[in-house]
Amino acid sequence: MLTGLQPSGPLMIGNYIGALKDWVGLQATHESLLMIADLHALTVPQNPEVLRRRSFEFVALFAACGIDIEKSAVFMQSHVSAHTQLLWVLNCMTPMGDLQRMTQFKDKAGRRAMDAQVGLFDYPVLMAADILLYGADLVPVGDDQRQHMEFTRRMARKFNSTYGQVFKIPATCTPRTGSRLMGLQDPATKMSKSDPNPDNYVALLDPPEVIRRKIRTAVTDSGSEVRSGASKPGISNLLALYAAVSGERTESIEARYAGKRYAEFKNHLAERVIDFLGPIQKRYRSIAGDRVLLGEILRHGADLARERSETTLARVYEAIGLVTGRQDDRR
Ligand code: TRP
Repeated sequence: MLTGLQPSGPLMIGNYIGALKDWVGLQATHESLLMIADLHALTVPQNPEVLRRRSFEFVALFAACGIDIEKSAVFMQSHVSAHTQLLWVLNCMTPMGDLQRMTQFKDKAGRRAMDAQVGLFDYPVLMAADILLYGADLVPVGDDQRQHMEFTRRMARKFNSTYGQVFKIPATCTPRTGSRLMGLQDPATKMSKSDPNPDNYVALLDPPEVIRRKIRTAVTDSGSEVRSGASKPGISNLLALYAAVSGERTESIEARYAGKRYAEFKNHLAERVIDFLGPIQKRYRSIAGDRVLLGEILRHGADLARERSETTLARVYEAIGLVTGRQDDRR
């Protein structure tokens, strides 16, 4: 399996519940390549210092969350040049209209598509390159990436039918174990690490007092019952968070808080989240200071990723008629 996460904000609890937790489980059955998509993160402005610090933080947090660095390859997208090389080849066969129809591009570029950066426009093609280089069977992604996955499959078929069978057609796999968490301040939008308002999420490294404040100030709904339902998006989301960190079923949580106030429920929820993140933060602190170890993880990951991706890239170059660099090539 191959997947990626952009270092475009601090890893937060929604990333754990919706992605990392699944990846940890998939390690048992699949060879895993976990990519930190730093080149994708450049499609929106990044502070250089923050980007670098966060990239290391991701590596340490992956390990702290249970990614086994012996089994899984963790690598930086920018360390493996085949990604941008295949990007170019795919660019040369991608109609602009396909990219113009991408809902994520339309959302991010807004009305002024002509002022948007070319990188943002090209984002799905880089993602297709990421995936097709490894012949991944399984690509775990969030719901918002379904259209990009469709595009990836379309490009693979198009390439294969034009130049011969080179790419495997990848399957999308959306989160199985976790629910989708929504913003704490705005339960109508997904909880996101790149949200400009950090009060919308609980970061994996938030200290207890910050967690308490964020949950205490999370929006709730009219009424007073701690109950899940369409008319109660705020409380439903907090219940989903409670269920995820405690492993309990929503119904039993609702039963326990029947007749209780929102405030009491929120106080308990904050303590559950703190207890849940405590061991992760402890492991993080024992790994994060070890720059040598983090560097080694990335070097090991990049070595493996390069080996795999370069084999595919060579087949692509050959298929499209580029002269190979091999000495014995007389064609
Ligand atoms: N676009 C993905 C996201 O924002 C991140 C990503 C980049 C990715 N390349 C990928 C995910 C390749 C899976 C496979 O979630």
